Amino acid sequence: MLVRLDKLLADNGIGTRSEVKKIIKNGQVTVDGKVVKGSDLKVDASASKVAVSGKEISAKLESWYMLNKPAGTVSANEDGRNKTVFDLLDVPEKKRLFCVGRLDIDTEGLLLITDNGEVSHSLLSPKKHVSKKYYTEYSGELCRDAEKMVAEGLQVDEELKCLPAKLEITEDGKAYLTIAEGKFHQVKRMMERLGGKVTYLKRLEFGPLVLDENLKPGEYRELSEKEIEALKGR
Ligand code: URA
Repeated sequence: MLVRLDKLLADNGIGTRSEVKKIIKNGQVTVDGKVVKGSDLKVDASASKVAVSGKEISAKLESWYMLNKPAGTVSANEDGRNKTVFDLLDVPEKKRLFCVGRLDIDTEGLLLITDNGEVSHSLLSPKKHVSKKYYTEYSGELCRDAEKMVAEGLQVDEELKCLPAKLEITEDGKAYLTIAEGKFHQVKRMMERLGGKVTYLKRLEFGPLVLDENLKPGEYRELSEKEIEALKGR
């Protein structure tokens, strides 16, 4: 992928766009060993060696982060009223990143953040049926056939007939729900239809990814190469 030299350097944390323009103008930047002075030069970061003051930058081609979203944050880049998950993220390429889907403001757990639009789109496509596993605590009592109803495809209301999913109720009255879609408030609506009111919701898995148990709410880490490959279905 070809990108402007100043954007590449800024995205990789060398400085702001105007700072890197100055650095380039000063002759501190080389591409494949040659000094370049044009910020608008298009470079292929995967094929060229870009160095600043002799130090090669390891240009990241794509970014993938797993965040343990805390309750009280909005899954968006900006929000006029509430704190967003992006307020928690301190990475140089933050401006080009976005969330892969959303979790409700009061939901915790696994949220993916990336700059890869194509893969994100595919993961969210209703045709792909990417599974998501949630842990939920609830008040009230679930109806006796709840697991069977969910397995057969729950009719939540006139609008929402769910795909077959998996409900596991634990002995101490909590539940795990694994669904292969992402309709608006889906877990809460399914639980309500079954007789429970969700009081706590946390996403534990997204497709092949499992929330890293070392991440406290509000913490994040980059995905490993292996995890990225798994997400891409390889
Ligand atoms: N289902 C919900 O109801 N809320 C979420 O945040 C995610 C799934």
